Amino acid sequence: MSYFSLQTLIFFYFVHFIAISHALSNGFSVELIHRNSPRSPLYHPTETNLQRVLNDVRRSINRVNHLNKKISHTSKPISTSTPDTGEYLMSYSVGTPPFKVYGIIDTGSDFVWIQCKPCNICYNQTSPIFNPSKSSSYKNISCSSRTCKSVEQTTCSNDTNICEYTLQYGDGSKTTGDVSLETLTLDSTTGSSVSFPKTVIGCGHTNTVSFRGQSSGVVGLGSGRKSLIKQLDSSIDGKFSYCLIPFYGEFSQSNSSSKLNFGDAAIVSGEGVVSTPLVKINGILNDLYFVTLEAFSVGNKRIGFGGSKFGKTNATTKTITIDSGTPVTFLPHRFYVQLRAAVAENIKLKRVDFPTLPLNLCYNTTLGQLNVPKITAHFSGGDVKLDSNSIFIPIGNGVMCFAFLPSQGFSLFGNILQHNLLIGFDVNKNVISFKPTDCTKH
Ligand SMILES: *[C@@H]1O[C@H](CO)[C@@H](O)[C@H](O)[C@H]1NC(C)=O
Ligand SMILES: *[C@@H]1O[C@H](CO)[C@@H](O)[C@H](O)[C@H]1NC(C)=O
Ligand SMILES: *[C@@H]1O[C@H](CO)[C@@H](O)[C@H](O)[C@H]1NC(C)=O
Ligand SMILES: *[C@@H]1O[C@H](CO)[C@@H](O)[C@H](O)[C@H]1NC(C)=O
Ligand SMILES: *[C@@H]1O[C@H](CO)[C@@H](O)[C@H](O)[C@H]1NC(C)=O
Ligand SMILES: *[C@@H]1O[C@H](CO)[C@@H](O)[C@H](O)[C@H]1NC(C)=O
Repeated sequence: MSYFSLQTLIFFYFVHFIAISHALSNGFSVELIHRNSPRSPLYHPTETNLQRVLNDVRRSINRVNHLNKKISHTSKPISTSTPDTGEYLMSYSVGTPPFKVYGIIDTGSDFVWIQCKPCNICYNQTSPIFNPSKSSSYKNISCSSRTCKSVEQTTCSNDTNICEYTLQYGDGSKTTGDVSLETLTLDSTTGSSVSFPKTVIGCGHTNTVSFRGQSSGVVGLGSGRKSLIKQLDSSIDGKFSYCLIPFYGEFSQSNSSSKLNFGDAAIVSGEGVVSTPLVKINGILNDLYFVTLEAFSVGNKRIGFGGSKFGKTNATTKTITIDSGTPVTFLPHRFYVQLRAAVAENIKLKRVDFPTLPLNLCYNTTLGQLNVPKITAHFSGGDVKLDSNSIFIPIGNGVMCFAFLPSQGFSLFGNILQHNLLIGFDVNKNVISFKPTDCTKH
């Protein structure tokens, strides 16, 4: 190698090094891919908008039913979410050399896993499956290691002393494989990449999942110990945020993408920021993010929130979970009915029935404009004005439906309602911040 090229190499090495440390010290952002976007491995080009909405509503209902079930059987070792849910994917790389995978991001679970070769059973994944034997940074861990003990649901392979995990989802889906240490590389939207060596991930060799979404696996962003957020904690100071762009109807053609921000890039500040404390509920659903909701207002009419029900005890708390993975917002039946009535009262258009859809407050906007009333969420700590495009979703042919449903007691702030809000999570200070934002410009 000539002196010149060696010098060039060293120069580029330092540029690369600086790029990484620069990206880290200022935080970094990665792109989020909506599952129904043409760039998503889960994209079905022939699906109509109505079919997408139907699927999103079905997935929402499954997820909330599962959470309700989990609340009443807290001792059962089942994961919070179902792998079929989740609306946004993140592309990232594993191993050395980096191998590109797609994970469904999930604020409701706390483990990162991907399908791995060799497969005992693998579902049909759109992108290639990771082969750990081709990665020089992949490491199995021993059963006696502290890392193994810190992961829930691990077992020990008796003959090899290798730590194994099993994640069982509510819909019967299951992934089993090796708990491993591997390098994760995230592609920052600025063009540089940021690597995190020795990240604990599940390398799944037996994956029986019932979903038709063929991502590589799941990226848990929950507040549990092995979520990506807790693992990157020292680099990102426990902070992440996202800003979700509306994705139905006309918006589905948009080429802008939503972003997931980490570290300093995730700080939500400036005019209009509202912060509310994260709440823990008696050790159940530890991986979900709960906040206190006092009321919703529709125009000037305030509707007080009676609370969510938890467990068999009939105990209620005024908490609602902020979930990136569920499109529809769920409220306890009585509260839902009051809110829906207040919204309907403000809308002069004629209602239309749409029997195939569980959403049951729909209007035909080809007959006139839908003047959505101003809706405000009153959290403990401040009021958040919701985007008018986040209350109703277009299901096709000009029909718009109220994107809320009643639940058996559990309350969930869905991702449609989160559109055009910059939402910041700080798992060290235990707060969530909201700021109304045009997410296409963020
Ligand atoms: C798996 O994917 C391949 C290629 O996309 C397809 O040809 C095949 O039919 C799929 N198999 C199943 C069981 O869905
Ligand atoms: C990890 O463990 C699996 C057995 O579960 C084994 O097949 C594989 O070769 C091991 N990989 C490394 C890098 O040690
Ligand atoms: C390991 O051995 C124990 C006791 O012999 C047995 O109960 C368990 O099922 C074995 N585990 C595996 C993963 O083979
Ligand atoms: C999005 O990008 C595609 C391909 O680059 C282009 O054809 C389309 O017009 C763009 N759409 C918008 C709304 O800019
Ligand atoms: C909870 O409420 C239901 C209906 O109000 C009642 O039937 C049930 O006995 C209550 N359970 C407890 C543990 O109080
Ligand atoms: C909406 O109104 C238009 C115009 O009157 C009509 O053609 C269409 O069938 C209506 N759609 C529904 C779902 O009622």
